[in-house]
Formats: sequence, C-alpha cells, structure tokens
Amino acid sequence: MFTVLNGKKILVMGVANQKSIAWGCAQAITAAGGEVIYTYQNDRIKTSLQKFLPASALLVECDVSDDAAIEQTFATIQAQVGKLDGIVHAIAYANREELDGTVYTASRAGYLLAQEISAYSLIAVAKFGRALLNPNGSIVTMTYFGSERAVPNYNVMGIAKASLEASVRYLARDLGPDQIRVNAISAGAIKTLAVTGVKGYRDLLMESENRTVDGQSVTIEEVGNVASFLLSPLASGMTGDVIYVDKGVHLQ
Ligand SMILES: NC(=O)c1ccc[n+]([C@@H]2O[C@H](COP(=O)([O-])OP(=O)(O)OC[C@H]3O[C@@H](n4cnc5c(N)ncnc54)[C@H](O)[C@@H]3O)[C@@H](O)[C@H]2O)c1
Repeated sequence: MFTVLNGKKILVMGVANQKSIAWGCAQAITAAGGEVIYTYQNDRIKTSLQKFLPASALLVECDVSDDAAIEQTFATIQAQVGKLDGIVHAIAYANREELDGTVYTASRAGYLLAQEISAYSLIAVAKFGRALLNPNGSIVTMTYFGSERAVPNYNVMGIAKASLEASVRYLARDLGPDQIRVNAISAGAIKTLAVTGVKGYRDLLMESENRTVDGQSVTIEEVGNVASFLLSPLASGMTGDVIYVDKGVHLQ
C-alpha cells in the first residue's frame, strides 16, 4: 500500500503479544516496506513471539534495566544486520501497587523503577543505539496523556511519562547534529498487557473511549501507522514532538 519505509531497517522494542502497541508498529512498518528486527524482554516473551512471528524474524533479547544487556543487544544487531534506520521504543513498567490509589503512598523504589524502565530506558537505548543509526534515522517512543493530567491510579507512570516526554526533547536536541530525530506518540488508551496493571483499567478504557470524537478507541494499527510516518522521510522536519494519536481524547 505505502512504500515510505522501503529498504529501511527498523528495530522494534516492546512486542509482548499481538495486542502490544509495538506489534501494531511492526505490522505498519512491514506494510510500508520496512524490515523489522525485534527485541524481547525475556524468554517467556520470546516464546510468545515465536507463536506468531515468521521463523525468519530476527529476535534479540534486551532487558532495558541492564546497560550491559542493551550494549550487547546493539552489538548483536550490528553483527547480524548492520546499520539501522529507526528504533521504536514501546516499553514501560511499574509495580501494580504503585498503580493504585494515591501517589503519595508510592515507595521510593517503586517510583525509581517506573522512571528507570519507562523513561531512562529511552536515554539508554539512544546512548547505545546512536552509533548504529544511519543519517536521517528516527527514534519513536510511546507516551500517554497521564503525563499532563492526574489520571486516576496512573500515578508514578504519569510522572515517568512526563519524564519520558522531556527526555524526547533533550534527545532531539542532542541527536540533531547526528541527523537523528526523536519523537513520541501519545496514544489513546488501548487494552494491552501494560494497561491491565492499572487499578480500575476497565473504567480508564471506557472513559477514554467515551471521550473519543467518534466513540471508538484508537487501535494499535492506527498508532503503528503514525509511527511509520514518524520513522519515514515524510517526517524529516519533525523532532522533539509529542504527537497525539488518541482519536481526540485530549481535546476535552
Ligand atoms: N496501552 C495503552 O493504553 C497505552 C497508551 C499510551 C501509551 N502506552 C505505552 O505504550 C508502550 C507499550 O505498551 P503496551 O500498552 O503496548 O503494553 P505491552 O504490555 O504490550 O508492552 C509493554 C512492553 O514493555 C516491555 N518491558 C517491560 N519491562 C521491560 C524491561 N525491563 N526490558 C525490556 N522490555 C520491557 C514488555 O516486555 C512489553 O513488551 C508503553 O510505553 C506504554 O506505556 C500504552
């Protein structure tokens, strides 16, 4: 259908299953002519991926809590595929107890964990992935409206998303001289594994759907299509931005 990513190699980090936003991105990238390389968090997720990815797909382990693991991931990718043209970072984590009730009951360790996995990991990926990105490379991450508004139970994750969005702006500035762009998509609420960790997530999903302009939640395919656009030369003028792909939820 589209060919905007013809010949481009894109690393997609964060597919856990076929409901993952990263999977919507991988499908859109493939449909746009790109080649996808996947990272997975651990063996359990690798087994899940092997059930639906083609046997030829390149899968590389990467737990973003470990710098040495991230460095090794990029070394493996360099050895197996050479340079990359883009990276999709669709990774976040917070403990369940931190996604429930008040923010002031969050533990120091729980707060730091959410920041580490959901925000710092983008900086670490940029740090180790930078050398592998071709000129006109593009990094895309996933954020949520809870960075700007106090969404019930989203708590430390909302604070981590604010941190992630600020990281996008600073990375965009610092990677600009390397001809690498960095943007975030602020996706509407979608039922994925990550969302089910938020207390009362059914209410969150329902309220989000009710606030869309047409009463229908955004899909992982729609988020994936915008990710493809941001990864492509069509978005060469965009960096440091947060783009809403939420069917207008942020309007009201
Ligand atoms: N689902 C939504 O409503 C929504 C909305 C806006 C933004 N987002 C964001 O989209 C991104 C993808 O989440 P999703 O909703 O597709 O859920 P998901 O559960 O399918 O994906 C989350 C991914 O993060 C990975 N991950 C967690 N800890 C990791 C670690 N230490 N190392 C490596 N990977 C790790 C998991 O393995 C998983 O693949 C997240 O950043 C999430 O916050 C989701």
